[in-house]
Amino acid sequence: MSTWNVKVLTEEGVQRIYLCGLPGVGKTTFGKKLAKALGWTFLDLDQWIEKTKERSVTELFAQGEETFRAAEKEACIDTFTLDHKVISLGGGALQDEQLTQQIKEHGLLVHLQIPREQLITRLHRNQRRPMFKGLSRADTAQKVVELWQVRKSKYRQAHVSWNPMMGVPAVNDSERFLHGSIESVKGLEKWLPNPSKARFACIVDEHVAEAHKDLFEEFAHQTHFIGMYTVPSGEGSKSVEAWRKLTTELLEAGFKRTDTLLVFGGGVTGDLGGFVASTLMRGVRYLQIPTTLLAMVDSAVGGKTGINHSTGKNLIGSFHKAESVLFDPYFLSTLPKEEWINGTGEILKYGYIADPTILEELSTTPFSEVDPDTQRHIIQRCADIKAMIVANDFKETGQRMHLNFGHTFAHALEHVAGYGTIPHGLAVLIGMKAAIWVSNQRGATIQDDIIHHHLPENVQNTLSSLVRSKGDSLQESTNSFIHELIEAMNRDKKATSNGIRLILLNDLADPVIVDDVSADELHRAWSYALA
Ligand SMILES: NC(=O)c1ccc[n+]([C@@H]2O[C@H](COP(=O)([O-])OP(=O)(O)OC[C@H]3O[C@@H](n4cnc5c(N)ncnc54)[C@H](O)[C@@H]3O)[C@@H](O)[C@H]2O)c1
Repeated sequence: MSTWNVKVLTEEGVQRIYLCGLPGVGKTTFGKKLAKALGWTFLDLDQWIEKTKERSVTELFAQGEETFRAAEKEACIDTFTLDHKVISLGGGALQDEQLTQQIKEHGLLVHLQIPREQLITRLHRNQRRPMFKGLSRADTAQKVVELWQVRKSKYRQAHVSWNPMMGVPAVNDSERFLHGSIESVKGLEKWLPNPSKARFACIVDEHVAEAHKDLFEEFAHQTHFIGMYTVPSGEGSKSVEAWRKLTTELLEAGFKRTDTLLVFGGGVTGDLGGFVASTLMRGVRYLQIPTTLLAMVDSAVGGKTGINHSTGKNLIGSFHKAESVLFDPYFLSTLPKEEWINGTGEILKYGYIADPTILEELSTTPFSEVDPDTQRHIIQRCADIKAMIVANDFKETGQRMHLNFGHTFAHALEHVAGYGTIPHGLAVLIGMKAAIWVSNQRGATIQDDIIHHHLPENVQNTLSSLVRSKGDSLQESTNSFIHELIEAMNRDKKATSNGIRLILLNDLADPVIVDDVSADELHRAWSYALA
């Protein structure tokens, strides 16, 4: 299983990328751009059929759908011998289950998806496609829904999904975010840099070590295994003491520059393990194996490593990318449900700043309740979005700041409430509500209902009791609470000499960095978000 990194595609011998998706998503436009970025060529299967059969698709269809589907299948099989091709598939190719599996064996199958409203507008405006010709907008919408219902399960079989409106993903510098089975050492072996020789050690979150005992017992029997070092659960482990202890243990065990560290855990173990890897002998190779939803969609990608200092979070650290990030949603089966909110906050963030199709997928259903294939697609897509943004701006001087959407508000809320009182993901959801409110005051028209769907039921009680603890009357306590929040925002490292730096939205998937938000705007944004 592979992602967009061109090096990985080459290493894995991927010679073809097949694009599928509803009519009108932009397979041709995107396919041509992707082919150009990879230095490959683009092939439209319908045109290929016309060329080889010396008849137009319409003529073939006129002889009956079966005739056309047979020609389509034949053409598809022909492509299995072509190298370095991005191939746009027609609607029927994935209707044949056996052919779908063959396509997946012969290349990377990518599903393209754009926001539904945009797709309907495109199809209605451009009346060229026979299936949609002459239809009213309402009928076009109805047809799109019907097609989606029929084809959704087929598209879910794709290796990767992507919104082509985001452009071509970074193909050169993006991180290697790979999906694969890691339930046993067997599954992991192929990811090790040199399985026959490479020595490796594991840094593992204590709960992961306990919940996946069998996997780690298997490690102990590996010839090249140096040792396993557990990290106590909790933010307290992102400390100088924990860093020193791990570094000492690894050095005493004879860990060498050529060896590899495997870091299993959520953001805490990932940040600490990554920092150990970046400082040990001036930096050693490491793999991130995220085991929380937050780590899969956020912290394991992007190469930020670090520990906390008594004066603040993440104040000691480095940028040190993992060799690969390997994810397997199987680890989520043991993740306590209250931890899922942290990943959910970040997932919705990607929906707002980059890919609104994510918001559509989760409009009515919590992430934990969507089907496993959709979960995998969403995780992969979020991580690919982050990898693409990071590839464009590794040291966070521009676009990477967009990832902070909602976070300046969130950090203030976590700080004033007292770290640990409000889960980070919950604070991000509330922070995004506030940021959307300011965005809408400045001309955007963005809905925030989806945030309400994902907020836990008891959130209002938590917030009310926090606010009430700040004064006697409701008005007085609310004002005082908001005053503290704005103070905390002013102290945040993202405050500039001009004022507080915020990420707002001009529109969905159109973030903007501003630093001219007034105290009054902030006050009203907080009143809205806390209500
Ligand atoms: N480096 C970055 O770019 C970045 C980005 C965002 C957040 N972070 C950092 O991430 C940290 C938070 O990470 P987190 O939310 O993943 O929390 P975490 O690492 O503390 O994990 C949460 C809890 O889940 C347990 N756990 C982890 N995986 C499990 C599994 N599969 N089964 C059972 N239990 C499991 C852990 O023991 C812990 O109790 C913070 O320190 C934050 O600063 C870093």
